[in-house]
Amino acid sequence: MGDRETIDRIIRNRRSSRAFLPQPVPKQVIKELLEVARWAPSASNAQPWRVTVATGSVAEELRRRLGEAAEGQRMAPDQAAAYRQRIARGPMAFLLDHIQEPIDYFLPIRSMTFFDAPVALVLSFPGGEHAPAPAGVHAFATTLLLAAEARGVGAVWLRWPMGQREIIREVLAIPEDEQPSDFIALGYPDDSAPANQGRSPREEVSSFTRWLGWE
Ligand SMILES: Cc1cc2nc3c(=O)[nH]c(=O)nc-3n(C[C@H](O)[C@H](O)[C@H](O)COP(=O)(O)O)c2cc1C
Repeated sequence: MGDRETIDRIIRNRRSSRAFLPQPVPKQVIKELLEVARWAPSASNAQPWRVTVATGSVAEELRRRLGEAAEGQRMAPDQAAAYRQRIARGPMAFLLDHIQEPIDYFLPIRSMTFFDAPVALVLSFPGGEHAPAPAGVHAFATTLLLAAEARGVGAVWLRWPMGQREIIREVLAIPEDEQPSDFIALGYPDDSAPANQGRSPREEVSSFTRWLGWE
């Protein structure tokens, strides 16, 4: 298979894993992901990413603290009903056929405990508290997800835990002059789990593209 077929296949096959085997991921494998991801583009080649990778007792402490916080932010019944309806009408609806728990629990609460993944990877960047994450940090994250896919490592990029930045900062000892911005859970995917079945849909190119100046 040529390079083009290989990279296209990796990009198309990548999907978010939301169920993981308890099997640890060797540090060497994570190092490889970082070695690849550092080739991501960034403005002025600033390479603004900083990475904290936790497993074992540190990941468990983070999961416990975020889990506690999640319990405190459970949706009220009317909010949960509205959330369920919103999901059912949107691009995440495919998940509803593949999970046993109510979606208003599965997405917000299980995301907070990073779907029991053995590894929590947090991206941060040097900068002030209200600065948005530089695009390079997101390029790094995307590249890392593809490197993970190529190695059979499951991953999911998670926004919900980032609502608890101070817990993340404290448990992972992220320095004050860095802002944690992105959370990626990593582990070997449990391919038999219902949550990992199904495929998220995509819009057709024609629905989001304007072509100008072409014959
Ligand atoms: C910035 C960002 C935040 C996300 N946050 C969550 C999250 O908190 N929980 C979750 O289950 N998935 C999360 N996802 C995964 C998306 O739901 C997923 O990428 C999307 O539905 C497309 O599915 P796919 O990754 O399987 O192709 C996030 C993805 C991105 C890029």
